Order: sequence, then structure tokens, then C-alpha cells
Amino acid sequence: MKHDVIEKNIGLMAVLIVVVISGGFLAEVVPLFFSKDVNEPIAGLEPLTPLEFEGRDIYIREGCHVCHTQMIRPFRAETERYGHYSVAGESVYDHPFLWGSKRTGPDLARVGERYSDAWQRMHLYNPRSVVPESIMPAYPWLFDAVVDHTAIETKLRAFQTLGVPYTDEQIAGAADEVEGKYEIEALVAYLQQLGTVLPTKR
Ligand code: HEC
Repeated sequence: MKHDVIEKNIGLMAVLIVVVISGGFLAEVVPLFFSKDVNEPIAGLEPLTPLEFEGRDIYIREGCHVCHTQMIRPFRAETERYGHYSVAGESVYDHPFLWGSKRTGPDLARVGERYSDAWQRMHLYNPRSVVPESIMPAYPWLFDAVVDHTAIETKLRAFQTLGVPYTDEQIAGAADEVEGKYEIEALVAYLQQLGTVLPTKR
């Protein structure tokens, strides 16, 4: 069999593997770089406010993304539970993406406005107070810690460089907007806007 020749020659096999993968990359991935659907923000998408931005950093620092995805897949079981499936244009201002793949807890892509601020605060202070069977950790220190406002201008400037449309005025006023705010306020502000731009029935 001709295939024997390939299977017994690791050098040839490696070359052919590279050829096949490159072909797949050209056909599947390269067109996406030029597709408006995945590169352009959906209508109405705004960059996070400075407070929400700090909330996102706290979300990453606390490892929320280790248990929660932000990616609703286009399957009935998911859309019935979470709402409209996630579209790429919702995430174009996200650096890095927090889509994830491991769900210990529910997906959070559209959790914004699903609960009140008070519920979110109680849940983060002690998840068992509102969901008795919950295995989610408690985050009581977020209620004592004040947001570090010293780096927000630099962070927004970096995002501006990456193409997120922050204006110079927004960046100049950012430190004042977050100064003195508690970390819990920032995190809840971040959670409450998740997935709210795309109209979706629940
Ligand atoms: C060890 C895994 C784990 C970590 C880490 C974790 N969670 Fe959870 N989360 C869960 C589980 C399990 C649930 C479902 C039970 C519940 O509602 O408490 C949940 C539920 C939630 C819900 C309610 C979702 C819904 O649709 O009902 C929110 C909001 C949430 N988590 C936010 C967070 C935030 C913010 C963080 C980080 C500060 C975090 N979680 C960290 C496991 C986790």
C-alpha cells in the first residue's frame, strides 16, 4: 500500500501534516480575518465604563472565569436557558476574551440585569444565602477593598491602542470615576452589563 510509505517515514509524514494543517488554516481561519461579522462591534456596543473595566479586572483576578464561561453556544438547550447565543461582534472590545470552556457554574454571557444589584451583592458575599446548595466560593473581601484607581488611565490607554474607541476625555476622567469605589461596586457594575446589548428574550 502506498500509505505504508508515509506511515514508515516520519519526515514525510511531518511534511504532509504541515501541508494539511496549513490548508485547513487557509480555508477556515484566514477568511475570518476579513469577515465583518467577526471583526466589527454589533450595533450599540460601547466600551466598558472605567468602573465596569475595573470590575472586569477583579473578575479575572478572582478567577471567576475558571468556573464560568461567557459563551452561549447556538444549541437549543443553551439558548432556552441563557438567551440568544453569543456572537463575535459582542466581544470585539474584550482583551483577552473570557469565553472559556469549563463550566462549573452557569454561563454568564447574558447574566446582566437578570438579578438585582442587591441579589448580586448577597450572592458574592455568601452564595449560600441565596442559593442554599451552591458550591461557589464567597468573596467577602470585595466589600472592604477599595478599587485601585492609579492604573486605570494606563489600562484604558492600552485598550485605546488596541482599537477600543475610548476618547481622550474619557481616559482623562477615568481615575476620578473609580476613586473611592468599593471593589464589589465595580464587579457588580461589570456583571450587570454582560450581554445586555444584543436584544434577547429570556
Ligand atoms: C468554584 C467555582 C466558582 C467560582 C470560582 C465562581 N463561581 Fe459563580 N457560580 C458557581 C456555581 C456552581 C454557581 C451556581 C450556584 C449559585 O448560583 O451560586 C455559580 C453562580 C454564579 C452566578 C449566578 C448565575 C445564574 O445565572 O444564576 C453569578 C452571577 C456568579 N456565579 C458570579 C461569579 C463571580 C463574579 C465570581 C468571581 C468573583 C464567581 N462566580 C466565581 C461556581 C463558581
